[in-house]
Parts: sequence; structure tokens; C-alpha cells
Amino acid sequence: MDLLRNHRFNGSTPQLADVLSVTSGKGGVGKTSISVNLALLFQQLRKRVLLIDADIHLGNVDLVLGLRPRKTLADVLLGEAEMESILIPGPGGIDILPASSGVAELLDCESQIIRRLNREFQTLQSRYHLILLDTGAGLSKVVLSFIRSSVKTVLVVTPDPASIADAYGMMKVISRHIPRHPILILANMVSTYDEGTSIFQKLNLMASRFLNQSLEYAGSIPRSADWAQAVLKQTPLLLQQEHSMAARALKMVGRNVLRSPGNPDDRLRGFFDGFLEKNLLSEEMIGD
Ligand SMILES: Nc1ncnc2c1ncn2[C@@H]1O[C@H](COP(=O)(O)OP(=O)(O)O)[C@@H](O)[C@H]1O
Ligand SMILES: [Mg+2]
Repeated sequence: MDLLRNHRFNGSTPQLADVLSVTSGKGGVGKTSISVNLALLFQQLRKRVLLIDADIHLGNVDLVLGLRPRKTLADVLLGEAEMESILIPGPGGIDILPASSGVAELLDCESQIIRRLNREFQTLQSRYHLILLDTGAGLSKVVLSFIRSSVKTVLVVTPDPASIADAYGMMKVISRHIPRHPILILANMVSTYDEGTSIFQKLNLMASRFLNQSLEYAGSIPRSADWAQAVLKQTPLLLQQEHSMAARALKMVGRNVLRSPGNPDDRLRGFFDGFLEKNLLSEEMIGD
């Protein structure tokens, strides 16, 4: 099905999509399930939404949603599929661009191919209000490039001390390579709302003292059996347990994320331009 020509979208024609990235220092903190539910929430708020599985090593948006993509971004990179043809319809009317495994090895390809991808992404950008990137965890050139192409980043952190330490490491690299990039902290799997607030305060203090970076607070989501159940059932929590505490918390987070203005300078940057700036983002610079 040609999703782009089939106008079953909500609301007005978008100008140019705002790209939002969802990332984390440590894996397994809830990025994918949060991205899926945020995408759905924004769609319910009458936005046209594209969710890109940008976790090129452990991409699993399709798994979380019980979808089986026939082709992925890897086929586009190999010249075996058009970008439009790999989009698949997700729940609630969101569209999904599956990346999944195998893409990482292909990204070191010719800059000409990357340029072509950039053009295709720009076309996508003109068809949606919002593009959400579910990035991989941790410090890599690819993750940083995705963050670079977004107007704001939701950094997911849990109360686990390792997650907090890795989130700080991530902030350090972002603030060094993408100055003034808006970062919103989302505390996931908290026991109480106070716990979320105190995680934010701790990170914010360190960020302003040592990195000269101010943070915003997107809010917190409690650890909940409903959430875990929804993931097991491959159905987004928002569709399954719309009135649960976790779903209500997610709606609050979604509103805060939308309200945050983002960096307008980032909006003008081509979607894939980050990949063309390889020299700037060498592994050595990320590593120290
Ligand atoms: N708020 C939450 N409460 C309970 N379980 C959660 C919550 N958020 C995430 N999880 C669980 O954590 C695991 C990892 O979630 P996932 O979204 O795949 O994270 P990531 O994409 O960061 O690896 C899943 O099993 C999911 O059910
Ligand atoms: Mg994931």
C-alpha cells in the first residue's frame, strides 16, 4: 500500500515535520515502548506521525507492535526498495519505517547513497507533522547523528544508578557536539513521582554545573505491570489500558514534550546531514 499517497491522515497538511529523538545512555530503559506510545498519543492529538526505528543494532519497534516488515531500510540502502514502499501502517494510524538489524553494516557506504537517502527523508519530512526516532542506546556516531537531526531529544533514564551515570555520559557528549540542543529528561520505571523529580534535579544540577547545559523535565512514568503486560501482548499501553496510571503519566509526558519549543536552528538541518559530518563526529571525539 502506498501510504504517502493514501491520505488517511489527520488534520492539516504539515509544513515540515519536527524530528524528535528518543534516546538513552543505557539499554532496556523503555525507549521503544515509550516511542510507540508517544507516537500514538501525538496521532490522537491530530498530528500525522512517522515512527522511525532508528535503533540500527537492536531495532525492535516491529516486535513491540507485533508487525512483520517485509523490507527495511537495509533494502533501501542496497537499492532494492524505494523508501515509500517500506513504510508500514502501525496501530492508530501511525506509520512506521522499519530499520532493524543489518543496517549498521551498510551505513559506511558511499556518501552519494547517503545523499540520496537524505533527499528521500526530506520528502518524508514534508508529509508529516512529527517524526519520532527511536534511537539505539549509548554513545555512537550513528546515535549522535540522529540526535543531531532532531529539534529536541527525550533522554530516558531509570532509577538504576548505572542508567543515571550513562545518561550523564550521554548528556556530556551531546552538549559538546550539539551545543544548546534541547534535552528533556524522562524518568521511567519510578516508584514515586518524587523519585522522578529527584533524578531530574540531580542530573540538572550536574548538567548546569559541569556542562553548562540546562535540561527540561518531561516527567516520569511509574514502573507498572500494565506496561510490561502491554509489551508482552504486543499492543501499545495507550490502546490497551488507556486509563491506567502509567498511561496517564505518559499523556502528561507527551504534552510536556510537545510544549517544549525545541531548537529552531536544528529544523533547517537535512535529516541525514549528520551522517555527512563524519569527520566531526569521529569515534575518538565521542570516546573521550
Ligand atoms: N514503566 C514501565 N513499567 C514496567 N516495565 C517497563 C516500563 N518501561 C519499560 N518496561 C519494560 O522494560 C523492557 C524494555 O523496554 P523497551 O521499551 O524495549 O526498552 P529499550 O527500547 O530502551 O530497550 C520491556 O520488557 C518493557 O516491558
Ligand atoms: Mg529499543
